[in-house]
Formats: sequence, structure tokens, C-alpha cells
Amino acid sequence: MPLSEHDHGWYVDTHRATNYNLTRCPGLLDQADPGALLAYHHGNQPARRLVVLDAKVNRLYGDRITPWLHRLGTPFETVVITPTETTKNRATVDEIHATASRMNLARRDEIIAIGGGIVLDLAGFAAAELRKGTPYAAIPTTLVGLIDASVGSKRGINQCGRKNYLGAYHPARTVLLDPGWLATLDRREIQAGLAEIKKVAEMVSPQLLALLHEHGADLIESAFDHGAADEVLRLSIGGILDHLADDLYEEQLCRWPDYGHTISPAVEMATDGKVNHGEAVNIDSSFSGVLAAQRGYVRNDYPRDMAVLSHSLGLPTYHPLLHEPEFVTNALASTVLTRGGAQHWPVPAITERGHRFIEDATPAELRSAADTLRDLTGASA
Ligand SMILES: NC(=O)c1ccc[n+]([C@@H]2O[C@H](COP(=O)([O-])OP(=O)(O)OC[C@H]3O[C@@H](n4cnc5c(N)ncnc54)[C@H](O)[C@@H]3O)[C@@H](O)[C@H]2O)c1
Repeated sequence: MPLSEHDHGWYVDTHRATNYNLTRCPGLLDQADPGALLAYHHGNQPARRLVVLDAKVNRLYGDRITPWLHRLGTPFETVVITPTETTKNRATVDEIHATASRMNLARRDEIIAIGGGIVLDLAGFAAAELRKGTPYAAIPTTLVGLIDASVGSKRGINQCGRKNYLGAYHPARTVLLDPGWLATLDRREIQAGLAEIKKVAEMVSPQLLALLHEHGADLIESAFDHGAADEVLRLSIGGILDHLADDLYEEQLCRWPDYGHTISPAVEMATDGKVNHGEAVNIDSSFSGVLAAQRGYVRNDYPRDMAVLSHSLGLPTYHPLLHEPEFVTNALASTVLTRGGAQHWPVPAITERGHRFIEDATPAELRSAADTLRDLTGASA
């Protein structure tokens, strides 16, 4: 019963059903009827659309995106955004809201995001706030966007010097997945996406890890135009969804998808985004792998194997910040607040699940892990 009355008042226990589609759409911009792809399972169709578009994607694909949007058959306006960790902020969200207000976007109209993780986060967060929840569709154009930022429900922006300090759980109603965008992505951005794929592989998918060992370099060279690409994307997206489908709203704060995200937010913020998201995740997962080995949760040579894989994917495994006084302990303290007061530090482990959680990492242990990782990085680079 969602509502019960008791002697002192009422008790409400209600649940919100969430459903959304992630659809593979190769050749998306050539689709004759994009409206069919964006059609909802239920609810009103939008009368207007606000498109939040990555500036670089606009430069590269604008002449094809505009006719595609016209084929949707609804009036639209576009906000173009240059994505950086600095513009992933309140001012940019305000700009999106100002356009929504000027065009009188209604409660059942739609925001469409076309871009990488930053644009998806900004547009999704703006949609979550707008009229307390306006429908949102995601068209990811980076590898991080395809396999991570578009997949779940979290939409974050940076505030008070903290990464993703403000946010909302607001899944896209529709996610349109086309790896064809990756053809124009910088090599470094492909590598960043592979860091998130490696995260999933280490935590839950030995099969995916084997594919990365075998085809990682080819995937970079070909910008995912390779025979192994579909399976790598399928295992990666499916691996995360397998977790999210059970806990889309993070009732549990002890989560394996947070692997590589314990100290990485501080690395991203301290370097002002010069170490990008995927790179920071890989530094963090390398550090976490060393912690796991120190505790005997994985083979002693596990961190070295992962360092070799990382370097073959062009990913960093160490940053000098890890040796700055208090950096790691402060980064952990900040994440502990996000995780409800506990460390819940995901690390790889030789268990059936492939991972476990550290709750009692000590400063001495963290210092030792930083030393080991620095030596290992030098030795395996
Ligand atoms: N909400 C989530 O669950 C989630 C998950 C992972 C990451 N994120 C967030 O996503 C952000 C990182 O996303 P990202 O790695 O996609 O970075 P990004 O959005 O900054 O995009 C990287 C660069 O690629 C350019 N670009 C985008 N598409 C392109 C294309 N097709 N061709 C050429 N260039 C293109 C962009 O202009 C940008 O310069 C971080 O802020 C991170 O916190 C969010």
C-alpha cells in the first residue's frame, strides 16, 4: 500500500517506475525518420525541442545535424556549448534555462543533448531542474558519452570547486547510440573512453578485459571502426546497465561502478581538467589496484599487468599529485562525504564478483600505494 494512516499521521511508501530506451543507431544522421527513434513509450509527444549542442560537434557535423533536426518536424532552438570542466557549471545551466524560458518550452517538450559527457551532464541537469523534470534525450558523441555518461541516470555539474557537487538523477527517456561519431574524436579522447571500459572489464567482465588486451590498440587506431568494436561496446554498456537496472537511483552507496572514482574527482579538479576524466579514472584505478595487491586481494603482479595494459592504451597510471602532502587523504575524505560517510572504495579482487570494497584504508597504506605506483609506472612505461 503506498499510503497508510497511523495514530500520529500518515506513512507514504511509493515507488517511481523508470523506463528508458538505449537504441543502437548506426548512421544516425542519415536516418530518414529520426522522430520514430525519439518516440516515447508513453506520454505526450513534444511540441518543441531545445537542443544543447557541443561546439566542436557543431563545427564538424552542423550541416548534417540541422537538416536532421528539421526532419523531427518540431520547432527547435539550439544552445551551443564549449565543454570544459569550468563551463560545466551553474552559469551554463542558467543559459540553457534562459533559452527554454524564451521559447516557452512546456512540461512535456524535450531537451536533446548532442555531445560528450560534459554536454550530456549539463543538458540533463538543466532538464532535471526545469519544471522539476523535463524530458531529455541523449545523443552521445564521445566514447565516454557512449559507454558511460548517457547510460545511467546521474547528471552532475561542478560547484564550490567540487566535481559534480550538484546533480540529479534524471535518466534520458531515449539514448541514441552511434559509434560513427567517434571517427572525428581525438585519439586522446578515445583513450579516455577506454579507461572507463577497462573499469567495467576489471570489475565484472574478464571477457571484456581479454578483448581490451587483444584489440585495445586496434580500437584506438581505427576509432572503433573495427570488428571487435560492437562486442566491446555491448559488454561495456551491458555491464554497467546490469548494475544500474537494480539501483538506478543509488540507494546503495557501495557501488562497483565507482571503481576509479574515489580520488579521481580531486585529480580532475586540481589539474583544472588538464588530466581528463578517463585519464583521472585510470590513475585512480591503478592506485586502487595497488591497494588491492597490498592487501592480498589480487595477485602481486596484477598492478603491473594493468599498468602494461594501460600504457598500451596510452593511459596514465600515476600523477605527482599522489605524492603531495594530504592530497590523497583529502580526496578520500571528500568522496567519503559523497558516499554517505563510508569509504566504500571499490577495488579488484579474486572473488566470484571480481571486486570488493575497502572501508578502512589508512594514511600509511595510501602513502605506500603511491610509492609503489610511482615505481611501477616508471618501470612499465
Ligand atoms: N553522468 C555520468 O554518469 C557521467 C559518466 C562519465 C563521465 N561523466 C562526465 O563526462 C565528462 C567527460 O566526458 P567526455 O570525456 O565525453 O568529455 P567532453 O564532453 O569534454 O568531450 C571531450 C572533447 O571531445 C569533443 N567532441 C565531442 N564529440 C566529438 C566528436 N564526435 N568528434 C570530435 N570531437 C568531439 C568535445 O568538444 C570535447 O572537446 C566529465 O565531466 C565527467 O564527469 C558523466
